[in-house]
Amino acid sequence: MINAYAAFEPGGELKPFQYEVGPIGFQEVEIEVESCGICHSDLSMLNNEWGIAAYPIVPGHEVVGTISELGQGVTHLKTGQRVGLGWHSGYCMTCSTCLSGDHNMCAQAEGTIVNRHGGFADKVRAQAASVVPLPQKIDAVSAGPLFCGGITVFNPIVQYQLKSTDSVAVIGIGGLGHMALQFLNAWGCAVTAFTSSEAKRKEALQMGAHQTINSRDPEEIKAAAGQFDLILSTVNVKLDWNGYVDTLKPRGRLHFVGATLEPLDLSVFQLLMGMRSISASPVGSPVNIARMLDFAARHEIRPVIETFPMQQVNDAMDRLRSGDLRYRAVLTR
Ligand SMILES: NC(=O)c1ccc[n+]([C@@H]2O[C@H](COP(=O)([O-])OP(=O)(O)OC[C@H]3O[C@@H](n4cnc5c(N)ncnc54)[C@H](OP(=O)(O)O)[C@@H]3O)[C@@H](O)[C@H]2O)c1
Ligand SMILES: [Zn+2]
Ligand SMILES: [Zn+2]
Repeated sequence: MINAYAAFEPGGELKPFQYEVGPIGFQEVEIEVESCGICHSDLSMLNNEWGIAAYPIVPGHEVVGTISELGQGVTHLKTGQRVGLGWHSGYCMTCSTCLSGDHNMCAQAEGTIVNRHGGFADKVRAQAASVVPLPQKIDAVSAGPLFCGGITVFNPIVQYQLKSTDSVAVIGIGGLGHMALQFLNAWGCAVTAFTSSEAKRKEALQMGAHQTINSRDPEEIKAAAGQFDLILSTVNVKLDWNGYVDTLKPRGRLHFVGATLEPLDLSVFQLLMGMRSISASPVGSPVNIARMLDFAARHEIRPVIETFPMQQVNDAMDRLRSGDLRYRAVLTR
C-alpha cells in the first residue's frame, strides 16, 4: 500500500489517497521518498491543461529517496542507495532511439505522472533504468528539482555543444530558469536573464546572470538586437517571439523548453535572413542526468528552494501559483 496525495478532478485540492501495488516487477525499483520538488508541469497536469491527465492524479516527478525494494533483474542498484527520479519512469529500452542513448525521446517512454502515480507519496515505483544514483557531494534536500527542471535546461547545453564564448539568454527566471542561469554561468557563457519581475533582476545577477532585461518591455528587448547565440525560453505564456528572434545573432537559436500552448507566430523572413533556428526539447536521458549531477557537484550548483512538509502540499502548490516562489518548492517527509 502506498500513501500519496491525489487530486480527484481538474484543479482539485490534493487529498490523502492510498493505492495498492502488486509484487515488484523484474526490472523495477521502489523508492522510499525523502523529498519531491514541484515542477510547473505538476500544476499543468493537475489542471489537465495538456489533456492527458487521469484522475485521481498523484503529481510529483522530482523525487529523491532511497531504494526500499529491488526487482530480481536489477543488479546495478542496491537497497538503501540514494537515487533520484524525474519525468520518465520507464523506457522501452529496445527502439532505435533508446539504443542511441536518446531515452528521453523514446515514443514508448512512460511519464512518472502520466497514467502512473508520482512522488507526492511515501513511495514510488519506476523502471530501474530511469532512476539515477545521487552523488555523495550533492545536497539531498535540494536535489529533487535537478531531476526534471535541472536536466531540462542542462540538456540543450549538451545537445548543442555550447561554447564558453557563447552568449546565452534565459527567458523566465522560475524553477527552470534559475537553474539555467547557474549552469550557463558555470559553463563559461555570457548569461542574460529575461524576467518580467523587477524584484528578480538583482537575484538573477547573484545566480549567474551578467545582465538582465525585462521580458515584457519591447524597448528593452529591441535594444538587445543581434546579441545571442541561444535563447532558452522557460515560460509557459505567449511572448513577442519575433521580438526575441531579432535579439539572436546570425545562426542563433530560439529554443523552447517551457510548454507554451499558444501556436508560434513567427516571421519567416527574420529567420531566413540570419539562418536562425527554432527548436524545443524534453528533459534528458539518464546518462545526461548523471552528467548533469556530476557537473552540478563540481561547480556547487544547487536549486534555491522553499521547503514544505508533504502534508502542506496544497500550501506549496498555492505558493507556486502565486508567482512569488523563490525558486522551487520542495516537499519533505
Ligand atoms: N521541456 C520539458 O521537458 C519541461 C520540463 C519541465 C518543465 N517544463 C515546462 O517549463 C515551464 C516552466 O516550468 P517551471 O517549473 O520553471 O515554472 P515556474 O517556476 O512557474 O517558472 C516559470 C517562469 O515563467 C515566467 N512567467 C510566468 N508567467 C509569465 C508572464 N505572464 N509573462 C512573462 N513571464 C512569465 C516567470 O519568470 P519571471 O518571474 O522571471 O518573469 C516564471 O517564474 C512550464 O511550462 C513547464 O511545464 C518543460
Ligand atoms: Zn517537470
Ligand atoms: Zn525506446
